[in-house]
Amino acid sequence: MKILVACYSRTGTTKQVCEELAATLGADIEQIVDAKKRSGIFGYLGGGRDAMKKKPTVIGPSRYDPAQYDLVIAASPVWAGHIAPALRTYLAQHKGKIKQAAFLCTMGGSGDAGAFADMKELTGLEPAARLTLLQREVKSGQHAAKLKEFAGKLGK
Ligand SMILES: Cc1cc2nc3c(=O)[nH]c(=O)nc-3n(C[C@H](O)[C@H](O)[C@H](O)COP(=O)(O)O)c2cc1C
Repeated sequence: MKILVACYSRTGTTKQVCEELAATLGADIEQIVDAKKRSGIFGYLGGGRDAMKKKPTVIGPSRYDPAQYDLVIAASPVWAGHIAPALRTYLAQHKGKIKQAAFLCTMGGSGDAGAFADMKELTGLEPAARLTLLQREVKSGQHAAKLKEFAGKLGK
């Protein structure tokens, strides 16, 4: 099965998880790049506002075509109870090309339900599996069992 991990990450937590997952699954990774500056306090505040308003952004060109994959794993940090604008834009751009989906998010503490609802709405798909990881779990290396279970649901 050909798997693509479509990942947006601002500070590396989601990226770390996506890289581990891709290594386990033998998947390709699309690192989605937000053209809008999201660093610093203004980047944080603007990011939260854009996410809350479900505002799209401009993203860099995609390296991989999701239509060529059997499964696409969409991954984003939770921002203001939603997905980050860069993943929103990616999923909107590729709507209809994703055959089967799984959803992953990382967060500080709450808001994954809203993020998963965004992913479902944008893909129009019921996910094969969903995984939420807390940033502190990832940073302390305590996420391995959950990630393994998630990968197991996706065939490995
Ligand atoms: C703009 C912004 C809004 C956020 N909103 C939430 C939130 O609503 N709930 C939450 O639990 N964490 C929130 N966080 C924390 C991130 O989801 C969390 O730190 C995540 O693991 C960061 O992933 P990354 O390192 O891949 O960017 C927010 C972070 C940012 C930058």
